[in-house]
Amino acid sequence: MNHGFETLAVHAGQEADPHTGAVVPPIYAVSTYKQDGVGGLRAGYEYSRSANPTRTALEEAVAAVEGGARGLAFASGLAAEDTLLRAVCRPGDHVLIPDDAYGGTYRLFSRVLEPWGVSFDPVPLGDLSAVRAAVRSGSTRVIWVETPTNPLLNVADIAGLAQIAHDAGALLVVDNTFASPYLQQPLALGADVVVHSTTKYVGGHSDVVGGALVARSADLGERLAYHQNAIGAVAGPFDAWLTLRGLKTLGVRMERHCDNAERVVDLLLSHKRVTQVLYPGLPDHPGHEVAAKQMRRFGGMVSFRVAGGEEAAVEVCNRARLFTLGESLGGVESLIEHPGRMTHASAAGSPLEVPADLVRLSVGIETIDDLLTDLSEALG
Ligand SMILES: Cc1ncc(COP(=O)(O)O)c(C=O)c1O
Repeated sequence: MNHGFETLAVHAGQEADPHTGAVVPPIYAVSTYKQDGVGGLRAGYEYSRSANPTRTALEEAVAAVEGGARGLAFASGLAAEDTLLRAVCRPGDHVLIPDDAYGGTYRLFSRVLEPWGVSFDPVPLGDLSAVRAAVRSGSTRVIWVETPTNPLLNVADIAGLAQIAHDAGALLVVDNTFASPYLQQPLALGADVVVHSTTKYVGGHSDVVGGALVARSADLGERLAYHQNAIGAVAGPFDAWLTLRGLKTLGVRMERHCDNAERVVDLLLSHKRVTQVLYPGLPDHPGHEVAAKQMRRFGGMVSFRVAGGEEAAVEVCNRARLFTLGESLGGVESLIEHPGRMTHASAAGSPLEVPADLVRLSVGIETIDDLLTDLSEALG
């Protein structure tokens, strides 16, 4: 379909049900399908690990909004990551990851894939010459990108990294969770695969855990689909349905997330207890120019550092009321957290450890004046 983003989000993969005309894909709570004779699959379905119509609808919609050839839906973002890495890497291969990658991604590499024989190096992805120098010719198989990163909101140049990866015969994988496909389209910038924790902005309502992969080429999509079925970490039909419902409103939600985040940033910049605000929309952010080039707007995630160190940062998190103290992000409700002790605790003591005075906000879509009042009170 050659349509705009919001049209694809509402319609791609979601034609009216052929039997009833239901305008929303039904939840096909079914494990197996009656066959039209041995080997005669009706519409291609035989067993729901291999394919399920509700999951197919989500997979087609996610592929359409990312502009890819094939979308695949998983039980979680990490399940998607694991399936991708086991499909494209072999023991002996090498991967570059951001030096401030999401803690769970770092743990997957350090505790699961490295013992399996895949080595990795964290690099500052914002520095293209550092990336080029870290590539090991012949063995670097993947450059793994997050932009903006979680939780430091660093920005990497997707097109520049795609060039480096492809010159080295490696794949460029972009975890697009923080930006969402509405704000950033990595495949159009040269990435080979996009990864999502659909738990976040795509689902958007903090009511479902899920993951997705979108491949630029049909060939790679086919390989990933083979591994999706072989490994089996698929999204269940109800989870797929909830995620698809969230995806329909992604565009309008992201606009409001961005509006509210910009106002929150203004408040933080003027607050004397805040020593630094990390937001790619700020002109003095080191990645601002690149972000402005590759993102539609700058997103709903804001991090900041608090005067007084770790205890002061924890206190701000504990005092917030409307900003709910919790992990995760990207839902309609605003969340606050202390990455050092919460989402990124698994990176403690590693090169990816985050500053102790850091607070991360996932700015929701509530009435902005209420959010600003709550944050002012939490900051004291
Ligand atoms: C950037 C990023 N990637 C991947 C994941 C993992 O996704 P999930 O929690 O759905 O497994 C997360 C989770 O917070 C994340 O923030």
